[in-house]
Amino acid sequence: MSESTQPPANWFTREDESADEHFYAEARFVTHIDQATIFALTDYYRQFLANADAIIDLMSSWVSHYPEELTAHIVTGLGMNEDELAHNRQLTHWAVQNLNRTPVLPFASDTYDRATIAVSIQYLTQPLAVMAEVRRVLKPGGKICIAMSHRLFPTKAISAFVKLPPEERVRLVMFYLTESGFSEVEFSDQSPNGFDPLWIVSGRA
Ligand SMILES: C[S@@+](CC[C@H](N)C(=O)[O-])C[C@H]1O[C@@H](n2cnc3c(N)ncnc32)[C@H](O)[C@@H]1O
Repeated sequence: MSESTQPPANWFTREDESADEHFYAEARFVTHIDQATIFALTDYYRQFLANADAIIDLMSSWVSHYPEELTAHIVTGLGMNEDELAHNRQLTHWAVQNLNRTPVLPFASDTYDRATIAVSIQYLTQPLAVMAEVRRVLKPGGKICIAMSHRLFPTKAISAFVKLPPEERVRLVMFYLTESGFSEVEFSDQSPNGFDPLWIVSGRA
């Protein structure tokens, strides 16, 4: 995909198009990447979240992988499972919402300093609508970080993430941000040797 072309519509379809509420109805108190990869992500967040006062963790669960020394006053999580979010000790607020059904975020504009999406971007069927919303709720100059690896629920991931090689998946996520008006869109490979990879795309609102 070149930067000027739009991705084909069939990249955003899934094997299982049934309501996401069914798939995520049961809490999963598990982690989705190796412990070493989680450490690498937490380490990345140490800089990325430093001095942020309000943070939003989209597609969140019972863990956000944020460093313990976080100083933010507001940490909002949004995900699909109430029980998982209620167990996330790093969140001060949380909301259950299916972003594939309702991509509009239930938050005021210019609210957050940082937004994160960890190992979940592959499940968004309307990523451009969601990214436009992330840009709206971020303060001007606020940043988003989208962390990716290679594991997924294959029936629920959009076909682009099932079929494309990693470089093209990264390029697609960079496109999500540039197309939604983010600047300083960057890729950073933070993969620890010998463990699940950690590919990070970030951008500035
Ligand atoms: C692989 S888990 C990752 C959870 C967490 N971010 C982490 O790093 O462990 C995928 C997450 O995406 C969320 N998710 C999947 N589909 C979603 C949707 N349609 N709307 C909102 N969140 C969704 C689920 O609630 C789940 O927590």
